Amino acid sequence: ALPSTYDGPVPIAVIGGTGLRELPGFTQVASLSINTPWGETSSPITILHHQCKHNDKTVAVAFLSRHGAHHQIAPHEVPARANIAALRSIGVRSIIAFSAVGSLQEAIKPRDFVIPDQIIDRTKGVRPWTYFEKGIVAHVPFGDPFDEGIAKVVRECGHSLEGDGVVLHDRGTIVCMEGPQFSTRAESNMYRAWGGSVINMSVLPEAKLAREAEIAYQMICMSTDYDCWHDSADVTVEMVMGHMKANSENARRFVTAVLDALAGEEHSELIQAKHLAGSIKFGVTTPQP
Ligand code: ADE
Repeated sequence: ALPSTYDGPVPIAVIGGTGLRELPGFTQVASLSINTPWGETSSPITILHHQCKHNDKTVAVAFLSRHGAHHQIAPHEVPARANIAALRSIGVRSIIAFSAVGSLQEAIKPRDFVIPDQIIDRTKGVRPWTYFEKGIVAHVPFGDPFDEGIAKVVRECGHSLEGDGVVLHDRGTIVCMEGPQFSTRAESNMYRAWGGSVINMSVLPEAKLAREAEIAYQMICMSTDYDCWHDSADVTVEMVMGHMKANSENARRFVTAVLDALAGEEHSELIQAKHLAGSIKFGVTTPQP
């Protein structure tokens, strides 16, 4: 069994989604079970050692499987507050989050990757979505819900893999719906009219909670279907899983390239989210004792 504790800083985390329950090819050095005031995490947090290709440095990376080790947690049941709080408690300041998404645009084909820069919230308010409640009032800017600094690095890495069959769309608006049912055709067409690029059930409240925790957060989306607006067959679970599995090697290469890049000296302030430090302090409106 792996050690249940880990000494040392772990600034970067990867959150895996459907079809990315683990990161093969990385050395597992610890498995942490962390209980938080918001309950237990989706899965134990694995600490991986990654040998950086550019400078031979070993970086520690935390990995968490959003839907559980056995994909037993539905999108609306993901304990997002526990997940983000647990990652923060071990020193995580930047998160690369993976997600399977449906495409709302002809140009975004199944197996294409999208680095979204905007979100439309279509969750229904049933998921706990903030740490600030019960007497603590805070408002946090969320105009740009993702981290542009991390996004820039991620886009460069994605483009560097283009010769190897990775297709990347640099920007996009992701619609986050409640689920677990997929959309109706009328809804799907409405999201297209709103300017949506892709759709999933997982970016919220994860991205909001990361912002509240002063963690730099960027999602990497992988298209697994044209949502039901399209003339091709309606989205099914088999479709999502099939494309995810077929493209998991590309997903792994993508993560590896991102970790290699983020481990570089020039990104040390970025992965520590120095630019977000203190942002919550000025968001709390409750008078502090
Ligand atoms: N995840 C993958 N495909 C999806 C779709 N079409 N709608 C919502 N979430 C998804």
